[in-house]
Amino acid sequence: MCGIVGYVGPRDAVRLVFEGLRRLEYRGYDSAGLATTQDGKLCIRRAEGKLSNLECLLREQPINGHIAIGHTRWATHGAPCQRNAHPHVDCRGDLAVIQNGIVENFLSLRQELLAQDHRFLSDTDTEVIVHLVEAQIAQGYDMVEAARRAFSRIKGAHAIVLLSRQCPDTLIATRIGNAGGVILGVGDGEMFLASDIPAILEHTRRMIFLEDGEMAVVQAQGTKFLRLDGAPLTKSAVEIPWDPVSAAKGPYRHFMQKEILEQARSITDTLRGRIDFASGQIILPELNLTPQDIQMINKIVIVACGTSAYAGLVGKFMLEKIARIPVEVDYASEFRYRDPLIAPDTLVLAITQSGETADTLAALEEARAQGARTVSIVNVIGSMAQRISDGFILMQAGPEIGVASTKAFTASLVDQLLLAAYIGQARRTLSPSESQHLAQNLAELPQLVGTVLSEGYNDYRVLAEEFHDREHFLFLGRGINYPIALEGALKLKEISYIHAEGYPAGEMKHGPIALIDRHMPVVTIAVRDNVYDKMISQIEQVKARGGIVIAVCHPDDEAVRAKADYVLHIPYTDPLLIPVLAVLPLQLLAYHLAVRRGCDVDQPRNLAKSVTVE
Ligand code: AGP
Repeated sequence: MCGIVGYVGPRDAVRLVFEGLRRLEYRGYDSAGLATTQDGKLCIRRAEGKLSNLECLLREQPINGHIAIGHTRWATHGAPCQRNAHPHVDCRGDLAVIQNGIVENFLSLRQELLAQDHRFLSDTDTEVIVHLVEAQIAQGYDMVEAARRAFSRIKGAHAIVLLSRQCPDTLIATRIGNAGGVILGVGDGEMFLASDIPAILEHTRRMIFLEDGEMAVVQAQGTKFLRLDGAPLTKSAVEIPWDPVSAAKGPYRHFMQKEILEQARSITDTLRGRIDFASGQIILPELNLTPQDIQMINKIVIVACGTSAYAGLVGKFMLEKIARIPVEVDYASEFRYRDPLIAPDTLVLAITQSGETADTLAALEEARAQGARTVSIVNVIGSMAQRISDGFILMQAGPEIGVASTKAFTASLVDQLLLAAYIGQARRTLSPSESQHLAQNLAELPQLVGTVLSEGYNDYRVLAEEFHDREHFLFLGRGINYPIALEGALKLKEISYIHAEGYPAGEMKHGPIALIDRHMPVVTIAVRDNVYDKMISQIEQVKARGGIVIAVCHPDDEAVRAKADYVLHIPYTDPLLIPVLAVLPLQLLAYHLAVRRGCDVDQPRNLAKSVTVE
């Protein structure tokens, strides 16, 4: 959950940036660093651990200037240590860079740069960025053009800020994809920059939000904008209200909207520290499971409620496929009363965003009482579920405020995939080459998520206008995407109050097909997996009975396009990761329908964020 802060103007930039980093401490981090220019030189200070360590270092070795960048790092590539903390510098000590995101193609870029004799001082993916800029400057481009060319070569989703000792009055920032925000704060003869509003809110309320593919050349007296393809751009500031709730919402109308749209970033955060992207090795120390413990597991039982239970149904496919252990999924509210067959060789996994859901906690207690080993996947640090489990995985998705769960759902899918791979590596059901392949797919995931969420990729307003007055919806999926149909229906019910049912598509002919007529919108998930042909015939069956088909499919799927009334696109990836992408259009569809119906999407009637009663 990296944080970025920058400043250029007349004030003490180092102090100001450091204070900004303090305001982002809540996001979590493992090291921190700062860069400024002083007497024509680039000065860097970095420290492992808490900001107090960086503060001590700054006291012992003070630096100051009128321009600075700062970063709190949560490791993705390379251990959390001083050497890997940002900012990273080029070979000549001219340039410093800070970044949020994952450079998907860092291995090939690093090889290329090593062959050109660039020297790497860290294990991070970030460092390739600064060497790429250096290489472009060596070819004769000025700093802005060199940065633009270098940024254009980086795959993935990122927020990046660059400082050069040769342009000591300029910061260059870019946002690529949707993994990290870049917010510019407009002051009077000074400019602020941050990944998150709270870092700079005390200095200015006038903010400019960079979008995907935009670059800013920031100076105290003004900022120039351009696109990464070189086209010029004009952007204007928006006024952010002072009250903390509105400020936390940023430019979004609702928390749910914000939480849906920030999933490229929350998934990047979920992956932080959990995977060595070069080897594919999974790192889950808090799970508290030794290789011997893992060998002993004979069955996994997942207990959860609502959206988390649907996440568990997806997890069953992942765990059985990768770890080759049988998995049962139970509603926690049922598990606690059904005299379940569990034993010391059963691993009971609780999934709970809040970590406080009464039924899930009771299921965990029941599992413990029967001698099972328990682990939980939670989003709230220090929650009860975390405390009473033998081990845990933190989702690292950041606070979820909207009552309807969105980013915690996708985070828990990614966490279950990590768990499956962790167990698979220990039991050798996942080979080293399969692990590397999975790591590459996971590295690419935030960017794919960002694509689905980018404005204009799918048009939800058209669908909201067309269907907001319907009373019923049907959602169909098969295989690993059948739970996504359940989740799509739940999202719609919760926030729009439209009655919706999710079904495994093969079950349609056993009953729900009777519901289909020309008034019934049917959302189908028809992606290229082992049940693709079955989904096509399901779509045909709906169409034959006059139903309206809204299909989630891949952009190049002409067969589905020809049969469906509306299509919502998702890119292709490994079938085990498709659910993470397939749920996004369903979240946005529910959101836009609910907004069109005038519903209170953040606090739907009768619902609570944590259900702490039975
Ligand atoms: C999700 O949109 C719901 N609000 C609800 O189903 C929720 O997922 C359920 O109550 C479980 O919550 P938990 O993950 O905090 O345990």
